[in-house]
Amino acid sequence: MDTKIRKAVFPVAGFGTRFLPATKAMPKELLPIVDKPLIQYAVEEAIAGGIDTLIFVTGRNKRAIEDHFDANHELETILRAKGKEAQAEMVRNIIPTGVECIFVRQAEQLGLGHAVLCAERAVGGDPFAVLLADDFLTESEPGVTADLVQAFAASGKSQLSVMEVDGPDISKYGVVVPNGLGAGIVGLVEKPDASDAPSNLASIGRYVLTPDIFQTLRGISAGSGGEIQLADAINIHARKGLVETVLLNGRRFDCGSVAGFVAASTHEFALRGSR
Ligand code: G1P
Repeated sequence: MDTKIRKAVFPVAGFGTRFLPATKAMPKELLPIVDKPLIQYAVEEAIAGGIDTLIFVTGRNKRAIEDHFDANHELETILRAKGKEAQAEMVRNIIPTGVECIFVRQAEQLGLGHAVLCAERAVGGDPFAVLLADDFLTESEPGVTADLVQAFAASGKSQLSVMEVDGPDISKYGVVVPNGLGAGIVGLVEKPDASDAPSNLASIGRYVLTPDIFQTLRGISAGSGGEIQLADAINIHARKGLVETVLLNGRRFDCGSVAGFVAASTHEFALRGSR
């Protein structure tokens, strides 16, 4: 097993129903925060964490994501002819040389765990990262994926990025069962009732996982929401003492909701203005 994390999985098959009509023909992952698509922020974070293989688990209506990360020689040529070198370079460098994109189809949407399982062949037998582009992360350098990769290198255990969530909103997340000592955890409960939440530590959409998670995913049945949940598979590994957490460094916006998306856009726009 290669202990360096080179591959990242991006589940991008969701319909984005909360953003209709914007997402009727356009993938929600291409909605821009200011001028850059959500998915590109996540891809840049992965690359900053040392990832060189990007595995997108896509579905119907997602072809524009492939186009976004593909070369566009015609556009580059037109921009250069007009003397717009900076824009031409930007278009060219969306995916740096040496980074490869792989697209895998998720034919049926059976849950996040199922989406990750669809990437099994592309991932192979090495540990890998998972990034949910809906979780927009900012103000962490070089990035949360880099933090998880570093923590994995130190212990060889799966890593979850977590943040504190107080109050009823905790029931929207996978919630950590802490062991009281260090970074190790003893469980992860997907979307518990707020009154049953085992802690105020919510798992956010960044993970580094060992490849034995695939076998665990194959063995579990539908959980919360009738879906195959990644958190349920991680829970099984956590009970065996194989999972650790890293506290989120930076800020996170839930871009799966319109309110979170608007807040992220406003925040990013102000941040750019102040630079
Ligand atoms: C998913 C995961 C959940 C996690 C959350 C973070 O839920 O299942 O464990 O806390 O992402 O954003 P979703 O928000 O896709 O329902």
